[in-house]
Amino acid sequence: MLDIGSTKVACFIAKLGSDGVINVNGIGHQLSKGIRSGHIIDIVEAETSVVAAVHAAEQMAGDTIEDVVVNIGGSGVVSHNITVELTVSGDTVSDRDLEDIINEGRSSIETDDDDIIHCFPVNYRLDDVKNIQDPRGMMGQKLGADLHIITAPSTMIRNITNCVANCHLNVAEFIVSSYASGLACLEPDEMNLGVTLIDMGGGVTTVAVFCGGKNLFTDIVPIGGGHVTSDLARGLSTSMIHAERLKTLHGSAVATSSDDQAMIDVPQLGEEYGEDGSNLMPRSIMVGIIRPRVEEIFEMIRSKLEVAGMDEIAGRRVVLTGGASQLLGMREIATRVLGKQVRLGRPHMVNGLAEAVSGAAFSSAIGMLEYAKRRTLEEIHLDSLRHKPLPFALKNVLQWVKENF
Ligand SMILES: Nc1ncnc2c1ncn2[C@@H]1O[C@H](COP(=O)(O)OP(=O)(O)OP(=O)(O)O)[C@@H](O)[C@H]1O
Ligand SMILES: [Mg+2]
Repeated sequence: MLDIGSTKVACFIAKLGSDGVINVNGIGHQLSKGIRSGHIIDIVEAETSVVAAVHAAEQMAGDTIEDVVVNIGGSGVVSHNITVELTVSGDTVSDRDLEDIINEGRSSIETDDDDIIHCFPVNYRLDDVKNIQDPRGMMGQKLGADLHIITAPSTMIRNITNCVANCHLNVAEFIVSSYASGLACLEPDEMNLGVTLIDMGGGVTTVAVFCGGKNLFTDIVPIGGGHVTSDLARGLSTSMIHAERLKTLHGSAVATSSDDQAMIDVPQLGEEYGEDGSNLMPRSIMVGIIRPRVEEIFEMIRSKLEVAGMDEIAGRRVVLTGGASQLLGMREIATRVLGKQVRLGRPHMVNGLAEAVSGAAFSSAIGMLEYAKRRTLEEIHLDSLRHKPLPFALKNVLQWVKENF
């Protein structure tokens, strides 16, 4: 899988064991160039970053790859929640009816300018019976489905596909970054009871709402940790490199009582370190620059959730992840602005991943592995059902095994 981020490009090569366990055997990551806020802005630079990450992962795995799962998470990615209805073709609902209803939903949303990334069936209705998870095999006439469809601009998809193709790779599937991060960081209970996952990256902050175990909404704020760094560089008259270092070492979004006494050395643009200490500034100056930007991010998220009518569904719980979530004070500001219970989320453990690539910045990368795993297992299951229908009783047993073991 390939996570093309605004700060880094990460490539993980993994094998799925027969026991259903993911084993990573190739890791490559690289500072990214030519990518801003989830969009490719310089295809040659972007290619160079992708090739370097893929090459490192291939070398480590001792293997070459052809197909990759790639994330998508720039502005222009939009959630649509729609309801579709159709008449059941036979006496009972078949796989074919489910395919038809999904295709119907897809064609009502897809345009020449937008491609569909995901189409999640949230829940089905059959005549007057609501909240059916899987209506196959049930008798009825009118089948209704609530679908969550996520689209992205076709041009954005094509630019990423071309960039990856120029690196001699084929995009097997796209996955929305925040959804992937949710798969990596959330507990099943959180996904069931309602939770808002916020992935704070370098160029974008992406949001995914889950409830009833389903992804119901995604959105994007085109501001990330990189904007905090440039605010600092501007506000302190220092270089981006120094601003980034100061941010990660001393930065905080909330004030502490020792801030006014604590002094930090800020190398000024075009000057060396002042020998007389003239570059020393109180740490509180940094908080004053960082806090408004962080508040702005969470205020934008709050208003997006409100406008989409997702605030209630999203529950009382928020999980913050992504590289920029590691900034001191992030949780406090999120708690205050969103008025919810906030925790910091790290991705679940994966076999073969070193500590350095298992932190919050790698949530969406690790979530993509989880997604690929679920797709693979689900496809085997669906394909076998489609091509060789199982006797109904056996199907029930399989379902029971799946749910209980
Ligand atoms: N310890 C830390 N404290 C504060 N900020 C940090 C820390 N570590 C990383 N960051 C910030 O995290 C950001 C990068 O996060 P991440 O790696 O998740 O981004 P990305 O996936 O490359 O970008 P995007 O998802 O926006 O396309 C940078 O802005 C960096 O400054
Ligand atoms: Mg990211």
